[in-house]
Amino acid sequence: MRTTILDIQKMKQRGERFAMVTAYDYTAARLADRAGIPLLLVGDSLGMVMLGHSTTVPVTINDMVHHAACVVRGSAKAMVVGDLPFLSYANADRAVDAAARLMQEAGVQAVKLEGGAAVAPIVRRLVDLGIPVMGHLGFTPQSVHQIGLRVQGRSVAAARQLMADAAALADAGAFAVVLELVPMSLAQAVTARLAVPTIGIGAGAGCDGQVQVWHDLLGLYDEMQPRHAKRYAELGKSIEAALRAYATEVRDGGFPTAANGSDMKAEDLAAALA
Ligand code: KIV
Ligand code: NA
Repeated sequence: MRTTILDIQKMKQRGERFAMVTAYDYTAARLADRAGIPLLLVGDSLGMVMLGHSTTVPVTINDMVHHAACVVRGSAKAMVVGDLPFLSYANADRAVDAAARLMQEAGVQAVKLEGGAAVAPIVRRLVDLGIPVMGHLGFTPQSVHQIGLRVQGRSVAAARQLMADAAALADAGAFAVVLELVPMSLAQAVTARLAVPTIGIGAGAGCDGQVQVWHDLLGLYDEMQPRHAKRYAELGKSIEAALRAYATEVRDGGFPTAANGSDMKAEDLAAALA
């Protein structure tokens, strides 16, 4: 049985912090599942790290369904959350269609969308239909062309707005809320006030859970090194070194060796060539 929204709500009640990581493919999902990560996010960050776009704006529901299905196939224990991409929840009917594709075609257990009070009616509609919804506040990358790339909610008014948005999402039935690039003390205060778990990224240790992007965590993406990320490995460097070694050995004749192939009887080859 996979992690459920009840499990993570219990973790909040018990004061247990939990980790979430993005995953975009089968092999990654298997590794994260084996590592015991309870929540996997098929983030629309795949637009950058998998598809090579410069923002999440071009990501389509087809892209999301394609990657989410791989992550679901690769995992057995984690709850898989799929991002609703830009404009796929522009109204409630579109949101239901997009969520249906992620849940029924790809098999995710929950969806995530960006925004606060303005999207609360859409969250309510999805939740009423039985779709678990995760909110996402603070820096919301789908709005990058409006808000730029910066910490959100530093002023009194913005902090009040963030608290009101978090409450609106919880009231609408969201089971958890991601807080991205929110001032740490504000994230802690929201976490204390909110009945549902907060999941921080660049929002400090006061959140109930943390989420990180796979490529940031593992040192696979060097176009941007966000301050909120900690590199637990330097896989990009390891992979590059391995590929160089492979190419060198092929050139030098060090690879392959007899151990890397199978052969036939010499007399059979001789007969075939005769
Ligand atoms: O798409 C993503 O990876 C996300 C996380 C950064 C929360 O939304
Ligand atoms: Na996202």
